[in-house]
Order: sequence, then structure tokens, then C-alpha cells
Amino acid sequence: MADLSARCGPLALRNPFLLASGIWGESGESLAGAWAAGAGGVVTKSIGSAPRFGYANPTIETYERWGMLNAMGLPNPGIDEYPKEIEIARRAGATVIGSIFGGDADEFARLGARMASTGVVALELNLSCPHAEGFGTEVGSDPKDVEAIVRRVVESSRLPVIAKLTPNTSDPVALALAAERGGASAVSAINTVRGLAIDVRLRRPVLAHGLGGLSGAAIKPVGLACVWQIYEKVSIPVIGVGGIMTADDALEYVMAGARAVEVGTAVAFEGIAVFGRLVRELGERLDALGFSELEDAVGVAHSAPSASSG
Ligand code: FUM
Repeated sequence: MADLSARCGPLALRNPFLLASGIWGESGESLAGAWAAGAGGVVTKSIGSAPRFGYANPTIETYERWGMLNAMGLPNPGIDEYPKEIEIARRAGATVIGSIFGGDADEFARLGARMASTGVVALELNLSCPHAEGFGTEVGSDPKDVEAIVRRVVESSRLPVIAKLTPNTSDPVALALAAERGGASAVSAINTVRGLAIDVRLRRPVLAHGLGGLSGAAIKPVGLACVWQIYEKVSIPVIGVGGIMTADDALEYVMAGARAVEVGTAVAFEGIAVFGRLVRELGERLDALGFSELEDAVGVAHSAPSASSG
């Protein structure tokens, strides 16, 4: 069977499938469950400085087969409460990456230092939630802000920092280059694509918040394009996110240049058993395609004769 271990900068993963932030990360037990089910690592919910209840319901609209629109509003118990959940996951042996969100570089730096003290192996910075006032894309759309935030967290935490980037921009490469300049060890691309659903009978948006973020199969081509463009211009590793439902989806991301992938909507649809399936299927697929190691497939699509960055 092909070797599925993944090296993502300083991170050594047993396989490339990470539990994405925001799904199944409410408790230490749920994180540990995803790890036990076969995830190569788990990313926590995005944690902020203080507890947040999040938006009113409805917060989720599902589209059969192709995706999900959500606006949860970054609900979380806050950085003082959440570390005990991380401890439970770590005791279960999980490789835990701590996701944080803040309103500016100072807040990110404080949260980074605090999250680093929990024993997580790396930090993921949520610079990309598409609908949270004062957070996410509002602080992650200008390369200067991205660079400053990443730099401050690298300094305060002394841990590998992964910048999770937005696709809701004309230039994802500029954001990735900014993260690299700030000292990021990797970027993850992409977070959800801003979207909207209208209930025509009620004549109002379906989600209580109005705007939401689209995830799932529908956004895979958007994620792949971002990973493809970033891989061509940026030296730090890329983690692919968006619409990974099958091993072939993951392999597309890897061939576009990703060294690992995050799985979210497939977990929401199928539960954590998805990790066992993806690991098994990817091993079989690599064997069938003649790859002895996952690493050998990273970025290969860029050297295909007809490949062009456009
Ligand atoms: O609504 C939410 O909590 C979404 C967060 C995100 O997309 O990062």
C-alpha cells in the first residue's frame, strides 16, 4: 500500500486528511473521535477571546449532493474555557491544530500565545470567515493586515502558523505571499465562498444572518484554482480545503500542489467514518496510479504538457 504520510512544512501527519475547523470540533471527545476514526490531524473550532453564542437559527441550509450554506457566527466558549477540550483530545493521542480568530493583530497575538500554551502542534488563523462583522475576511482581505497578523502570532506563539485564506478576493496569491512574508509555515485555502439563499415563500433569506458561506462539492473548483495559483508563486506548503468528498477529490488537490487537505462538509454529511473511507480509498487509488508515496503526487499536474497558470 502506498505511503500516505504527509509532510506539511514542520508538520508530520500520518495521512493528509485533517478535520476542518468548525465541524465536529465542539468538544475534546468529538476531536478525539475524528482522530480515532482515522483523521491525520484535527483542527479545533475557531476560538476567540470571549465566549460567543453565534447567530440565531436557522444557521444552515443544505443542498443535496453539492453543498451547504452556513452562517453560525463563530460560536465558541472562548479561550479560557476551550483548552480543557484540547487536553482531552491530546490525551487521546490526537495531533491537534488550534484555530483562532481575532479582530486585529494584537488580539490574534494574545490568542496565539494562549492557544500555544495548550500543547497544540500548530495554529490556524481564521482570516477568512466570510460573514462575521469585525473578523475573518474583514481582517484577512488586505495583504498588509495578513502579513502583520501572521508576524505577530509567529512572534507570540513560537509555533508553526497556518493562515487560512479567503477565496472571496480577486487575488488569493497576494494574500498567500503576505502570509509567507509574515512567517507562516503554511497556508490553507480555502474557507467558504460567500453565498445567499432566499426562501421565496417567506420572501426573506433562509439563514437568519442573511449572508452565509458555501462549502462542499460546489466549491471544489474554486479551491483547486486557488491552490493551483498559490502553489505556483509561494514556497510554503499549501493545505487544500473545499469540497473533498472522495479520495480523487483529495488527489486533485494534491496534484494541484496541496500537501494535506481539510475535510468539513463530507464530515457533516457522512460523519467521522468518512476518514476511514478516505484513507482506504486514497491508498487504493495511489496504488492503482503507480505512486508509492503521496509525496510523489504533490504538484504533478503543473508539469503536465498542457498545464498553464493562465
Ligand atoms: O459561521 C461561522 O462560524 C463560520 C466560520 C468560518 O467560516 O470560518
